[in-house]
Amino acid sequence: MAVRKDTIFERFLSPLIRLAIDETELKRFYQSIDWETAADRHRQPNLIYPEYYSSQNFHGIEGGYFNANAAVSYDPITQYVLPPNETLVRQGLIDAVRVKPRRILDLGCGTGSTTLMLKQAFPQAQVVGLDLSPYMLVVAEIKAQKAGLDIEWLHGNAESTGFPDSSFDLVAASLLFHETPPTVSRSILRESFRLLGVGGQVAILDGNQKTLRQTEWLTEVFEEPYIKSYAAGSVDAWMGAAGFAAVQTQEHWWVHQVTQAVKPLPGQDLEQVSAAKSWNPTDNLSPDFNGDLPGIAAPA
Ligand SMILES: C[S@@+](CC[C@H](N)C(=O)[O-])C[C@H]1O[C@@H](n2cnc3c(N)ncnc32)[C@H](O)[C@@H]1O
Repeated sequence: MAVRKDTIFERFLSPLIRLAIDETELKRFYQSIDWETAADRHRQPNLIYPEYYSSQNFHGIEGGYFNANAAVSYDPITQYVLPPNETLVRQGLIDAVRVKPRRILDLGCGTGSTTLMLKQAFPQAQVVGLDLSPYMLVVAEIKAQKAGLDIEWLHGNAESTGFPDSSFDLVAASLLFHETPPTVSRSILRESFRLLGVGGQVAILDGNQKTLRQTEWLTEVFEEPYIKSYAAGSVDAWMGAAGFAAVQTQEHWWVHQVTQAVKPLPGQDLEQVSAAKSWNPTDNLSPDFNGDLPGIAAPA
């Protein structure tokens, strides 16, 4: 894997993580898959990659997510870089879910770690994971098969998914927005709004913008081309601008945050919606669907 050597991660953290990772096992996994054939099964040939995605390295890996190395190394590294513990961090998004979802979309699902947790938490729901990297989807699919979870994996762009309006009652994204320029994050939130039915919920787990602003070195640990502009922004404000109501951000283990909101009725009294802020986590709401949800179509 081609990596830059000048990030704090490459100089200090990576050698430590390498000690903890079973590189033989990783190599065995890498060699056990015909990556191009597997990726071709997911690849949507007409998908146009956004410039911010195809022009940058992420985490110091040249070519970003356009190679199998990124997909193979993602989980082994991520388990050590989400303090205090990867599962606890991801659980923050699951715990923020206030609806009883029947159709869930996980945008920028990557290797599917959060997608799998969503399916485990809501086994009756139809769950779709969508990502721009076919290699990440290959790993996600293998993990779901191993766990015996029925999840649909789609190669697509979160800004323009191709699903019909009101296809979902929960749209989630974990660790996506610190990797997208704010204009793209805002456009993903507008697409999420379109995809949700009235009463549907959006839930975004990512770095704590306030903490990142106060602790600049955290934005320099990894090679993350858009993290500083992410830190300077406000997911709260972006959600409000997309039309969401009852927007709420909760700090999660200091370095993370979970932002959630609801799609209101057109012209709905915002005071009525803000009552949703006092949602009891155990008191799940059912979105205002008529029970006749449109079928899930493949993205355009
Ligand atoms: C840091 S990873 C997070 C993966 C996963 N959600 C997780 O929690 O581990 C970011 C992922 O977002 C994907 N991604 C970035 N921009 C995207 C977009 N516009 N549409 C879909 N996926 C995107 C990348 O391919 C990558 O898999």
